[in-house]
Amino acid sequence: MRRGPFVSALSGLLAPLAAAAVLPLAAPAPAVADGVVVGGRPVQVAEHPWVVAIASRDRFGGARSGQFCGGAVVDRRTVLTAAHCLSQDVLGVPPSEVPDLKVIAGRADLRTDEGREVTVRRVWVNGEYDSLTNAGDVAVLTLAKSLPEASVVPMAREGSAAYEPGTAASVYGWGDTTGEGDYARTLRAARVRVLSDSVCERAYPGSVDGKYLADSMLCAGEPEGGRDACQGDSGGPLVARGRLIGLVSWGSGCGQPGNPGVYTRISEVLPLVSEAQRSARERAAE
Ligand code: ARG
Repeated sequence: MRRGPFVSALSGLLAPLAAAAVLPLAAPAPAVADGVVVGGRPVQVAEHPWVVAIASRDRFGGARSGQFCGGAVVDRRTVLTAAHCLSQDVLGVPPSEVPDLKVIAGRADLRTDEGREVTVRRVWVNGEYDSLTNAGDVAVLTLAKSLPEASVVPMAREGSAAYEPGTAASVYGWGDTTGEGDYARTLRAARVRVLSDSVCERAYPGSVDGKYLADSMLCAGEPEGGRDACQGDSGGPLVARGRLIGLVSWGSGCGQPGNPGVYTRISEVLPLVSEAQRSARERAAE
């Protein structure tokens, strides 16, 4: 089986069953396994209100509120996530056939009913998403109800210092904390660094996992490994200097030295996001 992001995402979804089936094919578990996100720590959702869970109990069961990916609130009615999260390989059906696709805001512990569940009114998946390289891994969800302004994280524009290699960043999610299918029930964050494109170009020249393309992707992690996003974190935010710079997209294994995390580069998808927002507004006005 191809061990690309689909399989990774699937293991995030059907865990622990699928994870058990997939991981023997995968690289060995990371050396440091403590927690998103590997090497992370629990965080309060109130302090990071722009982190949301993308969920469907219908597709993924209710134990963890139906969570299967992460997302970032970029305006009161708009959430960004990864395109691959909404693929048929992950959902089993097209997104239009998921009856209860929801964004869950303000719920750190997925076993509770705290915070709110907001219905997704519209799903826009980047038509340019390339499942072979993983380029263009972004989707825009339009919410049926607005979230508070305080939940919005600004997106870093091209040229922002937040993208500079060496910048400290944090990645957030409810994903696998060990690389072995241990899905977090409460929100976690891991501190990573923006790495130079050359690090990921060397790590990912092109394989079944994907190919690092500096134009549309962002490389982040720790040179010695240990801290990283993992399965189930996809679509979730990577934030530096108070701005959204990336969405969890892919990687080989989790937290392994020499295999950093690869993120969708936000500056690159800004025009697509505006376009999706514009068309959602037009639809709403009709
Ligand atoms: N594709 C994974 C998902 O669907 C995310 C993998 C991120 N991996 C990493 N090593 N940073 O949840």
